[in-house]
Order: sequence, then structure tokens, then C-alpha cells
Amino acid sequence: MPNLDSHLVSFTAPASFAAEQYQGLRLAVERMARTRDVKTIAISSPAAGDGKTVTAINLAGALARGADDRVLLIDADLRRPSVAKLLGLTDAERGLSDVLTDETLDVGDVVRSVDRPNLVILPAGSLRRGASETLRSARLDTLLRDLRQRYGCIVIDTPPLLPVFDSALLAKLVDGVLLVVAANQTPRKLLGESLNMLDPAKVLGIVFNRDERPLFGYYNSYSRYYRGYFANSSEVASRA
Ligand SMILES: Nc1ncnc2c1ncn2[C@@H]1O[C@H](COP(=O)(O)OP(=O)(O)OP(=O)(O)O)[C@@H](O)[C@H]1O
Ligand SMILES: [Mg+2]
Repeated sequence: MPNLDSHLVSFTAPASFAAEQYQGLRLAVERMARTRDVKTIAISSPAAGDGKTVTAINLAGALARGADDRVLLIDADLRRPSVAKLLGLTDAERGLSDVLTDETLDVGDVVRSVDRPNLVILPAGSLRRGASETLRSARLDTLLRDLRQRYGCIVIDTPPLLPVFDSALLAKLVDGVLLVVAANQTPRKLLGESLNMLDPAKVLGIVFNRDERPLFGYYNSYSRYYRGYFANSSEVASRA
């Protein structure tokens, strides 16, 4: 695949230590899919730049590596979409927002394939204004229910939770949310506030991105999955 960002290790360096961390996340997600019927997963974080998009793409790439069913990656960051750009997709103007606003458009007309057999991308689309209104559309719920039947797993990249309400809206429609935090950067208070915005039952876990702590003698500058299943958000905040 041409023009790929070097942080997309699931694609650029699948045998690397960093890519292994996403394989670990993939196994955790597959387990939740089996035991809890978790199929639609939103990737969010407290603030901008925590690593949501990199995590969403790497996770989708890792899931698609072993999948029997196809994996769909949706860019639901309608305000500042970046999935298509990071994946080097050209002519990806149409996408989710167009499907939500144009009843004649089928999602099959706008999804894109990439150089990975089981992975399909639904770009954000052409709309930049009125993101919240668009995501509030009853069509989104219907669409996600429909896509749930068509794909084995759906990974959804979203905007940050605290500045805008889009992710909290999306969280109500998905099976679960993975929260990305920038290790040693995201203030605990912001993590707590983010968790308070979510139904605790929907929080699948926390991904520590850019974790520099030693792991098995290596330095791991990528993601590490926190294998916590939390009873309530204050517990998460105090443990984080
Ligand atoms: N584990 C990592 N190691 C090094 N750089 C990273 C890592 N994860 C992300 N980055 C870099 O940090 C920047 C922000 O990452 P990304 O776009 O994934 O964040 P985001 O949370 O989606 O941001 P936004 O809120 O703006 O959508 C990018 O330049 C990306 O390449
Ligand atoms: Mg992003």
C-alpha cells in the first residue's frame, strides 16, 4: 500500500514488536466478540491527538489479518476525517455523511477496499458542517444495524469525547467503546471526565498509546491494552 504513515505498523511492519501489541488488542476484541457479542466498536479518547485514528486503523488491520469475515473501518470523525488520508486513499470524497444524508445512496457504493483482502473502509464523506445533526440522524442506528449483519467486525474512528458531543452520541449506538489515552500525557482528570460521559457497561477497556515503559526488557513506544473490565467509571479513573 503506497503512502502509508509509518505509525500504521499493522500494515507497514506486521512482524514488528509494535504490531504485536495490536495483535494482542485484536485477540482481546475477538474474545469480547465471542463472549459478549461485541461487534461494533468505537475508538475514542478524551482529547485531540491521543492516537484514536492510528489505533483504529492498526486494530482494523490486525483484525483483518486473521478474519474469516470482513472487517469494516468507519471514519465517523466527520469534522476532521483522517482515515482515508492516512491510508493513502485517493478519491475518497464520499462516505458516511453522504450515506446518512442521501437516502438514494447505498453504503456499498461508497465503501473502499485497500490492499488487505478482508478490510473495507467507509470514509467520512463530504460533509463538514452539521456533524452532530448528521450523527443524530435515525439513519445512523439503522445503518449500523444493517452493517452489523454484513461484516464480522466494525471499528469506528471518532472525534475526541470532551470537546464535542459526537462520540458520546455514537457510543449509544455501538456495542462498546475502547478509550485511547496518551500514556504519561492524558491528565487523569480528563480520563475521568470522559468515562463519566459513557455508560460504564459500554467501556471495553483502555488503550495506552505511546507507552514508553519497559515491557519484557524492550521499550514499547506503541500501544498497550489495559485488560480491565470496569464496574464503574470512578474505579477506572482511580486505577488509571
Ligand atoms: N504510538 C504512537 N507513537 C508515535 N506517534 C504516534 C502514535 N500514535 C499516534 N501517533 C502520532 O500522533 C499524531 C496523532 O495521532 P492520531 O491522528 O491517531 O490521533 P487522534 O486521536 O486520532 O487525533 P484527532 O483527535 O485529531 O483525530 C499523529 O501524527 C500520529 O502519527
Ligand atoms: Mg483522529
